Amino acid sequence: MDNYIKTATEQFETLLREQVARTERMAELSKPVDYANLDTLVIGVCDGDGIGPIICREAVRVLEYLLKDKIAAGKVEIRRIEGLTLENRIAKEKSIPDDVLAAIKECHVLLKGPTTTPKGGTGAKELESANVALRRELDLFANVRPVCVPELGIDWTFYRENTEGEYVLGSRGVEIPDVLCCDFKVTTDLGTERIARAAYEFARNNGKKNISIVTKANIMKKTDGKFARICRQLAEKEYPELELEDWYIDIMAANLVNPAIRSKFEVFVLPNLYGDIITDEAAQIQGGVGTAGSANVGGRYAMFEAIHGSAPRMIEEGIGEYANPSSIFKAVEMLLRHVGYAAEAEKLSEAMKICTADDAKVKVTGDRDGATCAEFSDYLFATIQ
Ligand code: IPM
Ligand code: MG
Repeated sequence: MDNYIKTATEQFETLLREQVARTERMAELSKPVDYANLDTLVIGVCDGDGIGPIICREAVRVLEYLLKDKIAAGKVEIRRIEGLTLENRIAKEKSIPDDVLAAIKECHVLLKGPTTTPKGGTGAKELESANVALRRELDLFANVRPVCVPELGIDWTFYRENTEGEYVLGSRGVEIPDVLCCDFKVTTDLGTERIARAAYEFARNNGKKNISIVTKANIMKKTDGKFARICRQLAEKEYPELELEDWYIDIMAANLVNPAIRSKFEVFVLPNLYGDIITDEAAQIQGGVGTAGSANVGGRYAMFEAIHGSAPRMIEEGIGEYANPSSIFKAVEMLLRHVGYAAEAEKLSEAMKICTADDAKVKVTGDRDGATCAEFSDYLFATIQ
């Protein structure tokens, strides 16, 4: 027992030192890219697993369609990156194989299909989720997830901290076999300040006033306590026009389904795991996790992805072509907006509203009774014209 405790204590020291070193690199990595002044904007595309290659194929069609002129003029390059697959990751025993990560780092922005994460506790090699590894390697600290249901008066934007919290050391907990396990949660001052600033800048630039800081600071006193405090201090100092509210995650989960108050919420800023959970709830209110887009934004890099998983069941059942590409199309829209192509983003957004409305002529159901992913894209192109 003493040996286990000694090893765990040593591991804890290593982890602490690594995390302090990470905060020292943060300022450098947080510097933004000036997309307008690039010779060629390189958009990398990683297909991922399961239905990933199918929905990414359609997302690339959409990009090529909307950026035809810019691609022809050499202003934009769409670069397919192979190898971010479960098979390759298992073979290389790495959540992102080195050559794949190097290729990704040559791009400015990345569009990524869903990647399968091997489950813990199965005895197989416990590979870290590729998503989590990419967010960390590219320092994509803001996970931005908009949810909009105009008929219910809902227009929410979630700013989920994306590189810390329960995730950053999620694969590096300690264990005393047959006795206990211990995972770690990390909140840093700089990490909290930059996610709060991103949320507040968004609010300021988009005429939003209501900000909800969502934690469980009554229980996670150190980490969430710090998160709530730093968010509040930054707003009081630099964004006095914003109206801040502190909420606990449990009651916020209830608020989102409470029609009496939910439409007053505008911008949410929250630690990683709560953001993960509550954005699925919010997406469900909008029509399902398949309907939401997700942007992972850092300074040097940004990655855009579908919010749902790789749906291996659909592939097993031979219905992969019937997958719904709406979520990855939303991610494409966010990518376009992020790099400053607002007109193209607007075109896509308008066409998506028509193509996903109740009276849309083509409907994807995720099964053989609906349209295929490709038929949906064709319908979208016909609508854009
Ligand atoms: C998400 C997903 C990921 C997460 C998984 C796939 C690791 O649920 O993007 O919300 O937990 O962040
Ligand atoms: Mg999630």
